[in-house]
Amino acid sequence: MAGRLEGKVAIITGGDGIARATALRFAEEGARIVGTDLAEDKVRETARLVTAAGGEMVHVATDLMDEAAVNRLMKFAETTYGGIDVLAHFAMDLRVGELASVSVEDFDYTLTRTATMAFLVSKHAVPFMVARGGGSMVLAGSQSGSLGTGFLGNTGHLFSYAVGKGAVIRLGVVLANVLGKHGIRVNIVSPGPVATPNAVAFFGEEGSPERSLLVDAHMLLGRISYPEDVASAALFLASDEASNITGQNLHVDGGMTASGGMGLAKEEAQQIYDAMVPPREWDKRWLRPEQ
Ligand SMILES: NC(=O)c1ccc[n+]([C@@H]2O[C@H](COP(=O)([O-])OP(=O)(O)OC[C@H]3O[C@@H](n4cnc5c(N)ncnc54)[C@H](O)[C@@H]3O)[C@@H](O)[C@H]2O)c1
Repeated sequence: MAGRLEGKVAIITGGDGIARATALRFAEEGARIVGTDLAEDKVRETARLVTAAGGEMVHVATDLMDEAAVNRLMKFAETTYGGIDVLAHFAMDLRVGELASVSVEDFDYTLTRTATMAFLVSKHAVPFMVARGGGSMVLAGSQSGSLGTGFLGNTGHLFSYAVGKGAVIRLGVVLANVLGKHGIRVNIVSPGPVATPNAVAFFGEEGSPERSLLVDAHMLLGRISYPEDVASAALFLASDEASNITGQNLHVDGGMTASGGMGLAKEEAQQIYDAMVPPREWDKRWLRPEQ
């Protein structure tokens, strides 16, 4: 049986974490992969793992904030594998800090390493996808790009990241509008907390009090995500199974967004709210008789 990405060439940005899980998954489904990251050691290790598992992947170090280098990356994919069908963009960088202390420089740094970087890789992938008669882009958003930063472990100090990811989500929708006529689909995959090496610093190790609090307060399904959860969603959106889906933002977040970002805490918050604000006359229609 043919793999779900058989015959496709995929550019994957980002060296480890979600990008690594995605490279392994895409390769398993028959894609030939060009991986890239600023940190060559990370993407080299991913390529080694993919190859060891029987997949096909080459890698190249790229600073994705350098437009000429981004263009060289796309050309490298064409010379190596003949074109580009899929772009899965996960690379990003950020500088965190509370509103009062964040400098304009740090705010801009985060915005450019989220939104501008996604714009650059998308822009330069387009001509190569047009040449193939179409393609699929999957951009990494974030649950914080939709909800803001109001959840445990991700409070105000990540606000510039949330703004940047909000822009990535909007970029994906705008690109979907602009590129549909070329047969290019653009979707966003928005993770909630994922147990990647970098993110564990924010969410705590498995079993730690911080992690337990985060899960109890926000995760409707009782756990945070693993990189493989996000890779599976990216695979679906990249593949022809999603051939009539574009401009969507798929949350992979254990129900966090569905709960309004409050999860189980919402029930407690509702009880506190109800005690403070008795139901008004017109609300009482909805109450059960015993209430
Ligand atoms: N892990 C989470 O909990 C989580 C939650 C929501 C969204 N996301 C998003 O998912 C994606 C992947 O997350 P992750 O935790 O695996 O990320 P990560 O931090 O492990 O990977 C990001 C990679 O981007 C690379 N990078 C940074 N600047 C670069 C540049 N200028 N050029 C090229 N590469 C550069 C870094 O070297 C790094 O390897 C990110 O976009 C992230 O914002 C992650």
